[in-house]
Amino acid sequence: MEFITISFSLFILLSTLFLFKSSVAGRRKNLPLPPGTLGWPYIGETFQLYSQNPNVFFASKVKKYGSIFKTHVLGCRCVMISSPAAAKLVLVTKSHLFKPTFPASKERMLGKQAIFFHQGDYHSKLRRLVLRAFTPESIKNIIPDIESIAVDSLRSWENRLINTFQEMKTFTFNVALLSIFGKDEVLYREDLKRCYYILEKGYNSMPINLPGTLFHKSMKARRELAQILAKILSLRRETNKENHNDLLGSFMEEKEGLSDEQIADNIIGVIFAARDTTASVLTWILKYLAENPTVLQAVTDEQEGIMKGKDDKSLTWLDTKKMPITSRVIQETLRVASILSFTFREAVEDVEFEGYLIPKGWKVLPLFRNIHHSPENFTNPEKFDPSRFEVAPKPNTFMPFGNGTHACPGNELAKLEILVLLHHMTTKYRWSMVGPQNDIHYAPFALPQNGLPIRFYPKKMP
Ligand code: HEM
Repeated sequence: MEFITISFSLFILLSTLFLFKSSVAGRRKNLPLPPGTLGWPYIGETFQLYSQNPNVFFASKVKKYGSIFKTHVLGCRCVMISSPAAAKLVLVTKSHLFKPTFPASKERMLGKQAIFFHQGDYHSKLRRLVLRAFTPESIKNIIPDIESIAVDSLRSWENRLINTFQEMKTFTFNVALLSIFGKDEVLYREDLKRCYYILEKGYNSMPINLPGTLFHKSMKARRELAQILAKILSLRRETNKENHNDLLGSFMEEKEGLSDEQIADNIIGVIFAARDTTASVLTWILKYLAENPTVLQAVTDEQEGIMKGKDDKSLTWLDTKKMPITSRVIQETLRVASILSFTFREAVEDVEFEGYLIPKGWKVLPLFRNIHHSPENFTNPEKFDPSRFEVAPKPNTFMPFGNGTHACPGNELAKLEILVLLHHMTTKYRWSMVGPQNDIHYAPFALPQNGLPIRFYPKKMP
């Protein structure tokens, strides 16, 4: 009898839960989709997006439909969102309902087990290991080495016409290798560089893996990179048992149990995340400083002040905390340039949002650039004005490093290497831009026209 009563109660409970779930699901199904158009079958509105600056496409949609709208680009149905509250919901509060998503070819190139493509326990473990290697405590030890990379780079540009972005890529690549391998990689640096440069050429190519195609060469370079990494791993296992403070040391800790393949995928992933992003921000900073001589003077004065107050000329972590004007220039550059205009997520189930349905499987794109360029969030948003950061921005309106579970774990390192380079650059060098500078290129990060060619000179010392 007791058994029958328990079974009956369980049956009632489960039925109620089921009915509740289906009524919620039913209610969701009846919700309207966000406003907007889906364009032509299959190609959707891809042509409209790429026939102009993509930001013009986003801005005109926001003007027409408001902060949430639907579209269909690159074969995917998408919901684009540009309100700070919506971005917070997707990236933070309800992040479990929106998984990161990338085309399969990009996953193959970077490695399926890299941090970006995961959720849940495996992602949390990787994130803890990556964050540990990039805390202020860990990176402050490598300031002298970052400084010597910066000094060598600047010296190699003296009295030359340089392509700023290309040179910045070399600088940020060398800093990334330093933060990943410490000084262990010196032997392999040129091989790593050669393979990585071939790999990246295939990143935006058609994913056709036939001999002769960019994608094929790129996959070959990917395999060679994994072999070099395997050599570095075994060398460290054989010769060097002590604890290392770098990313490789963090990944190799025995109790963490990462396979060599997982380590390789994540190292290639971190190089990818660290290099072009930081290099394009640096390129924009040089452009904005050249266009705003008063700001350049204020930064130079601040950096000369740091140099004068020191007997020992090398920079310390504390010095980098005494650079408020330069730090605001970095913040304002991150806002105006918004080098990552948006990011991608995918709804893992039907989601109700602001009275609309976001159907399962649809892509969801938080539009960082629109949030950073909205007059509701920043007055006179197109103006480069670092002083606006004397007051903290409104919550969730400034997200150059993303937000929530996948927010950038390398942001402290990025800011540190930029400050170190700017210190030496503004105190010892001057530069002038060459050629037209009005266009923006997307490669895929936003970049000044032609990578910003400049002439670079040492200052005449008094
Ligand atoms: C100024 C330069 C940089 C910018 C603007 C930037 C921006 C971002 C953004 C917006 C995200 C989040 C993407 C998303 O939510 O979909 C991200 C993730 C990431 N970034 Fe950065 N980043 C920069 C430099 C770096 C550096 C120097 C490193 C490493 C040393 C790094 C490593 C990563 C990694 C590993 C992730 C993935 C985190 C995860 O999925 O949990 N980034 N970055």
